[in-house]
Amino acid sequence: MMEIWKKLQTRFDAIGERPILALFEDKARAEDFCIQTQHMRFDYSKTNIDGDTRTDLIALAKAADVASKRDAMFSGQKINETEGRAVLHTALRSRDEAPVLVEGHDVMPAIRRTLQRMAAFADHIRDSDITDIVNIGIGGSDLGPAMAVAALAPYHDGPCCHFVSNVDGAHIAETLRGLDAKTTLVIVASKTFTTIETMTNARTARAWMVDHGGDPATQFAALSTAEEKTAAFGINPDQVFGFEDWVGGRYSVWGPIGLSLMIAIGPRGFEAFLDGGNAMDRHFCAADPLENMPMMLALVGIWHNQICGYATRAVLPYDERLSLLPDYLQQLEMESNGKRVKMDGSAVDRHTGPVVWGAAGTNGQHAFYQLIHQGTRVIPCEFMVAANGHEPELAHHHHLLIANCLAQSEALMQGRSLIQARKIMADQGLTGNELERQAQHRVFPGNRPSTTLVYERLDPFTLGQIIALYEHRTFVEGVILGINSYDQWGVELGKELATSLQPVVDGTQSTEGKDSSTASLVDYLIKHRD
Ligand code: F6P
Repeated sequence: MMEIWKKLQTRFDAIGERPILALFEDKARAEDFCIQTQHMRFDYSKTNIDGDTRTDLIALAKAADVASKRDAMFSGQKINETEGRAVLHTALRSRDEAPVLVEGHDVMPAIRRTLQRMAAFADHIRDSDITDIVNIGIGGSDLGPAMAVAALAPYHDGPCCHFVSNVDGAHIAETLRGLDAKTTLVIVASKTFTTIETMTNARTARAWMVDHGGDPATQFAALSTAEEKTAAFGINPDQVFGFEDWVGGRYSVWGPIGLSLMIAIGPRGFEAFLDGGNAMDRHFCAADPLENMPMMLALVGIWHNQICGYATRAVLPYDERLSLLPDYLQQLEMESNGKRVKMDGSAVDRHTGPVVWGAAGTNGQHAFYQLIHQGTRVIPCEFMVAANGHEPELAHHHHLLIANCLAQSEALMQGRSLIQARKIMADQGLTGNELERQAQHRVFPGNRPSTTLVYERLDPFTLGQIIALYEHRTFVEGVILGINSYDQWGVELGKELATSLQPVVDGTQSTEGKDSSTASLVDYLIKHRD
């Protein structure tokens, strides 16, 4: 593998300042550097990847044995080796009769039973007087359903969903204000049912419900792997939806953690969402690397991050309803691939996952695009936009949205030369030093890479495809880097220290033993407390 990494590095060094635009002398490039699946097209032609580089990238994936590791994941092997767990979120969206075995036991019957129970509960709630759902969770128990509920707003015909994640009392206070405790269902979503933020918010919500005439015995549901803990909290077992430890938090929207989405769009809409995820699974397992969307999205990521050294990537959906997608993908990719050692515990010999960030277009254009276009760092951009919006009466808005999305990728690639900038200044009547000075500020270096994902419409099926696409991209990148994408030990230390600091902040324990910075900050905060 080392040879291929070196070859790719040599290719990058040789490319130098080669304009991406020059690659389009190959008239077939736009078609060749693009992949289509049902209702979607992924274009990576506006990158500096040429045919030879692509061949080497595919060779890298082969050398890393992505295909057999993929098969190991889908077949229930314990690929999450540091936690001794299988990784089977794909089973949650499996739509055929084939068994999926974990330690010789078929997990599919239980998955189907839970899905049926969820559907019956969702229908019951949708037919009841419940007007509002409050999902209390954090991380994967919040971002997935919150993102998907926002994305699929045009398909909502159930109660209104709200999401509380932050332990900051402001979040739950603002959310509960104005809700009727008698017609609100609280869903406590926590895989472990120990997460301090979620349990604190859940207890606050329960007290609010009791104080305002609601009935927690019937108006609380739980989504968790820890059924004894949900029972200890007092949640009616009929309203508890369990799942297994082989569903990672950031991969859990496909099962019980997606209950709020199911209540919002109905069980049939939720099934279409699962169908979309499953369609991407089948594509990922069957397509040759060159035609494989998650594979090529991952290889573009590896090229930009590990070879070109671009440390971040921006996710830029030109779709207001996908505003939470950058946050969702941030957890998916950074919690999965932000690792420092390989599966065997040895140090990785290159950088791992990039910083993933972004915002919905066009808003970002008026905020941070300045740096993307003219800053000194190159930031690969991942654009996405639908052919159709959900507001046919506002088609002109949508056309403008599409034009902006495509214009940005064009501008990033083309740039504007000093000669062009001088001409613009001369046309405005500037001359001499002032012309030169002003022209410099109007130069766009260009040659900045981007990919574009276009789809027909953001419906449940397409959203399912998009999420599964990014999940598998994360998997492929993790395999190539040799890391475990399915644990998250890096979140533990902060949690432990927060627990030990709590009595210090409460004032029941002294700051002794704390570093002097932390001790002084605690002192200040206690001294200035009302
Ligand atoms: O602290 C990180 C994390 O464990 C995430 O991986 C997870 O999505 C989140 O916390 C919430 O965990 P839980 O669902 O167990 O409350």
